[in-house]
Amino acid sequence: MKKIHLIGIGAGNPDYITVQAIKALNRTQVFFILDKGLTKDALLGLRKDICERYIEGNDYRLVQVQDPQREADLASYQAGIETWHEQRAVLFERLISQEVGEGETGAFLVWGDPSLYDSTLRILDRVLRRGAEVFDYEVIPGITSVQALAAQHRIPLNRIGEPIHITTGRQLAQSDGADIDNVVVMLDAHCTFERFVDQDLHIYWGAYLGTSDEILINGPLSDVSEQIGAIRADARAAKGWIMDTYLLRRNLD
Ligand SMILES: C[S@@+](CC[C@H](N)C(=O)[O-])C[C@H]1O[C@@H](n2cnc3c(N)ncnc32)[C@H](O)[C@@H]1O
Repeated sequence: MKKIHLIGIGAGNPDYITVQAIKALNRTQVFFILDKGLTKDALLGLRKDICERYIEGNDYRLVQVQDPQREADLASYQAGIETWHEQRAVLFERLISQEVGEGETGAFLVWGDPSLYDSTLRILDRVLRRGAEVFDYEVIPGITSVQALAAQHRIPLNRIGEPIHITTGRQLAQSDGADIDNVVVMLDAHCTFERFVDQDLHIYWGAYLGTSDEILINGPLSDVSEQIGAIRADARAAKGWIMDTYLLRRNLD
């Protein structure tokens, strides 16, 4: 039977890779490198570096393909996701069919961890449901950007006995702020935190976490919001892309 590894490679630092991931890399014959277009040369580079650094010998193949882009102008967000997932499932099916031989193992190297805001598991599930390809798969966890954020700011994610909420910039934009207590925000292209500067919140912000370009800022939201916005815009302009994550925490009285 064919086998697929979904290997979490950590969110930016090649040292985030686990021993389990290194063992899985060394049991893989073909790696699929999905090229996501303009932003992601550096992300592609990390995947290639990881293969070179951790795989003994060079008895493996890299297959680089263009990942379908999500169309922003489709009528609804859900319809856009559905179309995009189907296109990716067709691509994954073709890759598994053409590039992984019977008894061989292929791998997708997933940024951070496959369980967090990543659709690779859902796509593999979809490929299996389509029924044309039969394979077994294994998930190898990685260090998420959320863990990297907490580690770099040297903070626990939750306060004692309290929950932690993880969400997206899109979701946070629907909030009036009253429900923000202890929330990690990902995938926020619009500095949504700026809407809440009048609230008694602290922000722990990190960009390019784990990489040599890492930027960390923390402080009362009302004090540092503008600074983060400006630094973020400059960094994005200089590099052409940015990945940032932040924790908003309401101050206790
Ligand atoms: C599609 S999600 C993937 C998350 C990933 N699976 C993980 O475990 O972190 C992409 C978002 O993760 C966050 N992110 C990923 N890597 C990051 C990094 N090195 N620094 C800051 N944020 C990062 C950003 O919020 C980015 O918009």
